[in-house]
Amino acid sequence: MRNIVNTEQGVAWNGYDGVHWADNAERWNTVVGEINEELFAAAAIEAGARVLDIGCGAGQTTRLAARKAEDGHATGIDLSAPMLARARATAIEQGIVNVLFEQGDAQVHPFPAGEFDVAISRGGVMFFNDPVAAFANIGCALRPGGRLAFVCPQEMAANEWFVVQMSALLGHEPRPAAGARGMFSLADPERIHDVLTEAGFGDVTAEPAVTRMVYGSDAADAAEFYLSTGPVRFHLREAGQSDVDQARERVTAALRPYERGGVVGLRASWWVVNATKR
Ligand SMILES: C[S@@+](CC[C@H](N)C(=O)[O-])C[C@H]1O[C@@H](n2cnc3c(N)ncnc32)[C@H](O)[C@@H]1O
Repeated sequence: MRNIVNTEQGVAWNGYDGVHWADNAERWNTVVGEINEELFAAAAIEAGARVLDIGCGAGQTTRLAARKAEDGHATGIDLSAPMLARARATAIEQGIVNVLFEQGDAQVHPFPAGEFDVAISRGGVMFFNDPVAAFANIGCALRPGGRLAFVCPQEMAANEWFVVQMSALLGHEPRPAAGARGMFSLADPERIHDVLTEAGFGDVTAEPAVTRMVYGSDAADAAEFYLSTGPVRFHLREAGQSDVDQARERVTAALRPYERGGVVGLRASWWVVNATKR
């Protein structure tokens, strides 16, 4: 792959993490999909729209965007070959023809200038090593007056799905790493405003939204899935079987109080961000 500046992310999403998201695409859509309604309300995609989905992964939001765009089209861009393969296969299975998936780094990808009306993302814009450069590049892909609508997590402490499971795994509360890249890099709405303004966007708004993340049908099922995810596998890479078993027991116990109505749902706090390309 040429034109990759987020090399660590490229390695992770083309390795175990990407394969896990691709192999468990429907399950991940259940985990994160409750925010789709807010994302698409913000994106307000009209018939005929040309939509770009940043960090589209296995492509659920790209396919939904393509359906809303009717005679328009949706393009998904992502670093991850395994997730894009899953995205393409599912689009074919579902008979969606106005969709295209491209492998690339959204921070530097040579998008055709002004090609899109709307850029969207469900949690795919927090991983850039230079967010201003990345959003400026995404802005180049938008026509003047084109819109950006994405969802990203609020601060760690407001996200039960992260704190409850990670605390049980570690045996203590996770400590937020200030200014760190990754999942919580856009947790501060002032930072979102400053980054997008510097990148050439105006009318920046960040509205709070709360959903559940549904990790499984019961605590044992959810814990098993959580332990299979990339970051947890990495954390336990040198652990022996008994340490892994103990971690599973701790996570299962921590998830028991969240079993309700046949699912384990944990609170997720999001920013729903809107901006306009100046
Ligand atoms: C948390 S996953 C979300 C995937 C998808 N949006 C979803 O909701 O199912 C983050 C995605 O962002 C992608 N990503 C991270 N950095 C990227 C970059 N610089 N360019 C393109 N994609 C990127 C990853 O490969 C991964 O698929």
